[in-house]
Amino acid sequence: MTFVLGIETSCDETGVGVVADGVLLGDALATSMDEHARFGGVVPEIAARVHLHAITPMLEHALGKAGIAFADIGAVAATAGPGLATAVQVGLAAGKAYALSLGVPLHGVHHLAGHAAVDVLEYGPLPARCVALIVAGGHTNLLLVGDLARDPVVHLGDTADDAGEAFDKVARLLGLPYPGGPAIDRVARDGDPNAIDFPRPMTSPHDPPYRFSFSGLKTAVARHVERHTGPLPVADVAASFQEAVADTLTRKALAACRDHQVDTLLLVGGVAANSRVRALAEQRCAAAGIRLRVPSPRLCTDNGAMIAAVGDLLVRADSTPSPLDLSAVLGGALLHASVSQSVTGSGTFE
Ligand code: KG4
Ligand code: ZN
Repeated sequence: MTFVLGIETSCDETGVGVVADGVLLGDALATSMDEHARFGGVVPEIAARVHLHAITPMLEHALGKAGIAFADIGAVAATAGPGLATAVQVGLAAGKAYALSLGVPLHGVHHLAGHAAVDVLEYGPLPARCVALIVAGGHTNLLLVGDLARDPVVHLGDTADDAGEAFDKVARLLGLPYPGGPAIDRVARDGDPNAIDFPRPMTSPHDPPYRFSFSGLKTAVARHVERHTGPLPVADVAASFQEAVADTLTRKALAACRDHQVDTLLLVGGVAANSRVRALAEQRCAAAGIRLRVPSPRLCTDNGAMIAAVGDLLVRADSTPSPLDLSAVLGGALLHASVSQSVTGSGTFE
């Protein structure tokens, strides 16, 4: 059995986790969310500085919870991207240093693979094929996933513009606090989801079936707020916006399952915590005979356990480790869970 250390620093969470044989043994998380609140979004330099301070304490916490010593670590997995450049670099550099000092393999991990793999820690191995809908603050993706350690991941579609941050931006328009997702979720409970017929973006027959776009919806909310006279029915606007997002996300995810004859849908990312997105996904999956797997909220958002989960799959599949001069991957589609792009190499993903 190999104790795999996972490190995640692609955005504003400093996550460290320890996984062995598909079991999460311990993890720890620090977030710089409060420090970004007054800017209404994540400031990369602030996030990177907090990662620097938090990484060692989080490592110690995670090891303490797992009940193992640093020397017991048998492999290190670190997010190699995509994410905020300065933030990714901190965790990747730490991962390289730990791997080098321990003399153990390093696995550079694609952040999106982590979001899909985390489900394994709660529900066991993934089926042979599944569709993963990842709706996070900075990314929205629809993936066709097979064996994460061996098969390439098929990127079905991403967002053309905003992702989960649309919740943060709409919350700002409505005078609600940051992060906006939980605030909208809360006030929407008292609102009518059918009060305002907001657009369902990219759902006409001519649109790419798996692509998302939320900036038009956000603008529609802004126009509605501008035009409104008298006290704004915030709960109705929040509920109607949330309904448009939930409808669009679940429609496309279900279509992807149907089109690819897949009977399992993974729903992950911070927005998977949204009560209406979850409820509608459950309802539509049940009606279509599709099994829905949603990790618990703390594992849906960025964390170290998800990267350790990928590392554990790679170790158990005997995957080739990444070179120690691995460079960060700051864009591009997910092709494989393991990232092996060396600074000096030809620049291909493997
Ligand atoms: O997965 P995550 O930590 O972000 C990235 O990986 O980028 O998710 C953060 C996002 C934020 O935009 C936040 O507003 C949203 O998830 N969020 C929610 C809820 N809880 C968090 N959105 C809608 N409803 C929620 N209950
Ligand atoms: Zn993420």
